[in-house]
Amino acid sequence: MASANSPLAGRHILLGITGSIAAYKAAMLCRLLKTAGADVQVVMTPLAKQFITPLTMATLSRRPILVEFFDPENGAWNSHVSLGEWADCMLIAPATANTLAKMAAGVADNLLLTTYLSARCPVAVAPAMDLDMYAHEATQQNLRTLAARGVRIIEPAEGELASGLTGKGRMAEPEAIAAYVGAMLGEKKKTLEGKRLIVTAGATIEAIDPVRFISNHSSGKMGYAIAGELAARGASVTLISGRTALPTPQGVRRIDVLSAAEMYEAAVAAFDRADGAVMCAAVADYTPAEVSQTKIRKSDGEMTIALRRTRDIAAELGARKEGRLLVGFALETHDEEAHAEAKLERKHFDFIVLNSLRDAGAGFRGDTNKVTLIDRAGREELPLMSKREVAVRIVDKIESKLNIPAAER
Ligand code: C5P
Repeated sequence: MASANSPLAGRHILLGITGSIAAYKAAMLCRLLKTAGADVQVVMTPLAKQFITPLTMATLSRRPILVEFFDPENGAWNSHVSLGEWADCMLIAPATANTLAKMAAGVADNLLLTTYLSARCPVAVAPAMDLDMYAHEATQQNLRTLAARGVRIIEPAEGELASGLTGKGRMAEPEAIAAYVGAMLGEKKKTLEGKRLIVTAGATIEAIDPVRFISNHSSGKMGYAIAGELAARGASVTLISGRTALPTPQGVRRIDVLSAAEMYEAAVAAFDRADGAVMCAAVADYTPAEVSQTKIRKSDGEMTIALRRTRDIAAELGARKEGRLLVGFALETHDEEAHAEAKLERKHFDFIVLNSLRDAGAGFRGDTNKVTLIDRAGREELPLMSKREVAVRIVDKIESKLNIPAAER
């Protein structure tokens, strides 16, 4: 099943196949890329046809295979320039010593090579050859030349080779190549390099006694997705997290807290050195006035727990923001927009993300959300999408508020 969450989904991949025994693995690779939702156009060198049939590759990619500069039957031109423009990524797997050498030298004697020379997209190669060819200084120098020009080299593995010898030169496995290309396409421009941002996320826990607490249903997924997206774009991110079961997103510094009071201390301390904060946590508004040091025994009749207000972290940061960016969240069940707009003003948010519990697929726990972004200039209602995609949209808006020009994004 194609996954909308895969960085490969909907991406255009030019899969170049050269004349190596490992070409049979290109069939599995093509299938993996297609299953992840990518659109694959196969370009083969003339020799590659001897190793895997165009029929196999055309069937798996669901597109005619390109080999020649023009179709000998009708003269139709296969434009390497438009292929290069179409592609989000060019992947040559397997890449022989011969093709690597020609790429390094700028030789343009087949369609695969002319396409490589005109491609503006990222290019990755998965070398496949016998161990001595791979180790040869000529091949190593070609690989260094290509790497210095930005071509990504997907390292071959050690193992049994078609020659019967054992060593390094065996093409990486299709799963590893597909994962590499997915990661490469998922990489973001480091538009937030140098920016320090705080994200609060998850639910706070307010102790009643040593075993009981008051909390809420927040999973932390939305805040973690935002922290991950900010870090992927190069920001230095401090994630102040209440209770969640989630792994820390890559590149994020995480501070675990329990209560609203602990979250307040951590957020206020970090805010001084930050360029802004995203207040995604579901913070308790009330906490037990007194925490029993021992487990409260049950007795007949009703019991009452006196609660007192917690401090509003977002409002406190809003009061001391001095030009810093502040993004709030609002989860409402009625009069959604009016309440969200009131919070925008009261807490001095630059914009607020409104989720309504009335919308199916929005809010707690799930992997999707449906939100409206509200600032003083107006509202933008987004369709139902994954929390990861919502995070991308929120971080786009953060960039525009930080005056990062769209062209750099
Ligand atoms: O007023 P309300 O609690 O609905 O506002 C929600 C927004 O305020 C969220 O961004 C939430 O993270 C933040 N908040 C906070 N500290 C509190 C209560 C809410 O930061 N004590």
